[in-house]
Amino acid sequence: MKILTPPIKIQGKKSKLAEWILSFIPSDFVNNKIYIEPFVGSGVVGFNLNPKKAIFADINPHIIRFYKDLQKDIITPNIVKNFLISEGEKLKIKGADYYYEVRERFNKEPSSLDFIFLNRASFNGVIRFNKRGNFNVPFCKNKDRFSKAYITKIYNQINWLYFRIKNNDWIFLNEDFREVLKKADKNNLVYLDPPYIARHCDYFNKWNDKDEQDLFNLILTKKFYFILSSWQKNSYRENPYLFKYFEKNFKIHTRKHFYIVKGKKEKSIYEAVIMNR
Ligand SMILES: C[S@@+](CC[C@H](N)C(=O)[O-])C[C@H]1O[C@@H](n2cnc3c(N)ncnc32)[C@H](O)[C@@H]1O
Repeated sequence: MKILTPPIKIQGKKSKLAEWILSFIPSDFVNNKIYIEPFVGSGVVGFNLNPKKAIFADINPHIIRFYKDLQKDIITPNIVKNFLISEGEKLKIKGADYYYEVRERFNKEPSSLDFIFLNRASFNGVIRFNKRGNFNVPFCKNKDRFSKAYITKIYNQINWLYFRIKNNDWIFLNEDFREVLKKADKNNLVYLDPPYIARHCDYFNKWNDKDEQDLFNLILTKKFYFILSSWQKNSYRENPYLFKYFEKNFKIHTRKHFYIVKGKKEKSIYEAVIMNR
């Protein structure tokens, strides 16, 4: 399966692992079960799976607003394209100052258009918020960020997602995973990709022992089918939670994955998927 890249960039996105993760989903599940993804982020797994019925959720309101706005035609691929052309021109003239002007505007009054502008012009395409919930990622330092080719690429990514949102019965929720999983039962297939514990942390992306414990209790006691992404080990240490919580109860598959740090140094990690079937 060729994996297509959705428009929103986020740390921890599963673009390189999506094909592997999707290979664990039996095709009859896609037709017979309602898919739920409580940590949707960029949505690369679920949007490529393309289920007829689904619930996509995230605690980050800006991500969910973006998908809902596409669903309600508040933004369309063309609206985004025209916005990026005009804002890209201003960025070209004013440089970093303009990026920070948009960032301030977004933090006062968040909108999906400013969100995609910041997401695609920020350093390393990460989404990070300070203690007050303000977006605080610096500029990528490229005044020409929104070249014609780059805008076309973003347009195509949004267009692909837009048609999937329009042609399926998808619900988007800005809720904590505990709320979302309350709704799940044996008729659901749930893909879980929480922040990796002790690895990323910010206002919308906190993840601690209690979260890990709550998630574990939910997947142990509720009857839905799930696939959970996690990690097994890297060069320095093993993931203690994998053994503490999951090994005794579920099936675990692992795979070595290489990734690039700061554009040059290659590192590896053993990724894991945990499942109950
Ligand atoms: C590792 S990312 C998911 C990446 C996604 N699978 C992808 O490929 O793009 C984790 C996501 O969980 C969300 N999140 C963090 N804490 C959450 C919570 N308590 N409930 C729901 N979502 C949460 C974050 O906002 C983030 O989008």
